[in-house]
Amino acid sequence: MRILSIETSCDETSIAIVDAKGGIKNPVFKVLAHETASQIELHTQYGGVFPMMAKREHSKNIVPLFIKALKKAKMLSYSSSPLGRLGGVLEKALVREPEMLEIFLREIPKIKIPKIDLIAVTAGPGLEPALWVGINFAQALGKVWKIPVRPINHMEGHVMSVLIQKPTKMSKSEFLISKKNTQKVDVKFPAISLLVSGGHTEIVLVKNWMEYKMLGATRDDAAGEAFDKVARMLDLPYPGGPEISRLAQIYRKMLDSTTHKIVLDFCSAQAVALRKGLPKHFSSDIHFPRPMINSKDFDFSFSGLKTAVLYYIRDKYNPTLALSLSREGKMQIAKEFEDAVVEVLVTKTLRAVEKYEAKSLIVGGGVSANNELQNQLKKQIKNKKLSTKLYLPIKNLSTDNALMIALAGYFRSVQGKKYTKKIKASGNLGL
Ligand code: KG4
Ligand code: ZN
Repeated sequence: MRILSIETSCDETSIAIVDAKGGIKNPVFKVLAHETASQIELHTQYGGVFPMMAKREHSKNIVPLFIKALKKAKMLSYSSSPLGRLGGVLEKALVREPEMLEIFLREIPKIKIPKIDLIAVTAGPGLEPALWVGINFAQALGKVWKIPVRPINHMEGHVMSVLIQKPTKMSKSEFLISKKNTQKVDVKFPAISLLVSGGHTEIVLVKNWMEYKMLGATRDDAAGEAFDKVARMLDLPYPGGPEISRLAQIYRKMLDSTTHKIVLDFCSAQAVALRKGLPKHFSSDIHFPRPMINSKDFDFSFSGLKTAVLYYIRDKYNPTLALSLSREGKMQIAKEFEDAVVEVLVTKTLRAVEKYEAKSLIVGGGVSANNELQNQLKKQIKNKKLSTKLYLPIKNLSTDNALMIALAGYFRSVQGKKYTKKIKASGNLGL
């Protein structure tokens, strides 16, 4: 089955073309193209994503990106008898996308219709104006090329993203889920999934592929959102997660090496010199709260933690906030904040793992790339002597991408349940 997948739920326009076979038990997935246009540079200037700005970018980029993907997949050829006038059909389908309509009308009719069996498109959750761009494009293309269009849940994509592990043939764009002689990713159920991104923080019981029970979610900010907001307070660029994590890691290393040295030559002059040379705020005098860590449910709340960071900066420094912070001060706050988020995520996730005797733990979403989160999950699974196997997406598939949408499209097609032809963007779509 050849699948074209489209993802536009937030700030990445992503398109993949894959060949999938083998069914749910033994899926084999060949990636013919995977192209992503990131808007991060644009949003960095504003410190966050503005939905209408994201929409405009998707609208501008999606057709050229699709053509690039077709070319990469060696599926782009031009027809000697272009499609007739499409204006009428398309104007209706793309009534809200005047910018895309123009590029679509200029480019698509002259392309020879390639063999594509299914278009899988993210329908939610996400930013609705951004989601609509992907949906409208998918439906317009589906209409003129007569290809069915299936709506996909973005979070299901994140759950399934862990299946795509090993690139084959040393080619960056080819992944096999499983094949004889290559590593097979064989997730056993029940599984617990921790989904942590800029918009979501959820713990889900995965009874089997496509069978979910939501156990808990954030009541206010998502973990990634908290990373992004704290980064803004520290005058660090968007997206905040990677930058906070980087600073926190440096600080941890400094702490480790210093304590190590001091312990080793406690009485030496060198140790005294080392102590003197320490940054002003070096001793860990900060402790941020671990919200809801002891609550019996699996819910989260990160807005209080974010406020605690704000108050700390305000009280300790001055109201001009980040401007008065030294690099060491920022690093220390980054570390303490990351410790707090990670401790809550790990504690509650492993509590769910134990309660439901999960054989697998699947972590997905942008924050799953966080090193400290990964390290602590591994450490705690070992400490608790759990036999649960941890599954993490490979680095470039932890954030939003169209490959995971193709995979979800394939699994849903094999499952064969009916789906709506009238696709609507749904900002809060649940699993
Ligand atoms: O899944 P994703 O790409 O988009 C959403 O669906 O939201 O996740 C983006 C989020 C951002 O909030 C970003 O700050 C966070 O993931 N993120 C990280 C890291 N890398 C990305 N957070 C913590 N540590 C990281 N290394
Ligand atoms: Zn996402």
